[in-house]
Amino acid sequence: MPEIVPSLLSADFTKLAEEIRAVELAGAHRLHLDVMDGHFVPNLTIGPFIVKAIRRITKLHLETHLMIERPERFIMPFIEAGSDTVIVHVETSRDPLADLARIHGAGAKAGLVLNPPTPLAALEPYLSQADHLLVMTVNPGFGGQEMISSTLEKVSQARVLSPDLLIEVDGGVNLQTVPRVVAAGTDLLVAGYAVFGAGNPKLAMQNLTRKITGE
Ligand code: DX5
Ligand code: ZN
Repeated sequence: MPEIVPSLLSADFTKLAEEIRAVELAGAHRLHLDVMDGHFVPNLTIGPFIVKAIRRITKLHLETHLMIERPERFIMPFIEAGSDTVIVHVETSRDPLADLARIHGAGAKAGLVLNPPTPLAALEPYLSQADHLLVMTVNPGFGGQEMISSTLEKVSQARVLSPDLLIEVDGGVNLQTVPRVVAAGTDLLVAGYAVFGAGNPKLAMQNLTRKITGE
């Protein structure tokens, strides 16, 4: 059964522990952490220091989405901080196979991610070495954007290419878009604004999960 992965990007950072507790209570198994450098994307977010603090207050699987230039510099610091999965953009990685090997060598799960304009063919040569594929359904940088639904084709294409790959969709997931994302064949649906944007993350997460199960 596909599941919702809350993204802390839209959480209230003045009460992060409470926000994380709310999604734990709603049944989350993973947390999505968006790392932005102000170069690869036009926004800045968190570094290893915050991931380390988050690690201290939750046992959830931490997946770290690196939207940064030269990601190879920061793979180790984020794993040392407690990331369980590290996901690297194929557009910015200089050597995706080396990055995946570096992540695996440090004992974490390794993911690749591609932006809306990037075709699946750009990462096909590396897919067999990845545990995880993240399909961006918005141009990365900000939460709360509208989903670019045409990008969902890449989910079904990847499923055919690599049946065992963990596939995740990131951007614009909400009560309206959940059915079409699930229909595309994803395993995981990142949701930021739809979980944390309305003031009751536990209820929002439960409602999104119900939408998946069709209740
Ligand atoms: C976008 C980030 C996303 C973001 C999704 O740049 O990679 O993970 O949090 O946010 P929503 O769910 O609000 O579109
Ligand atoms: Zn993300």
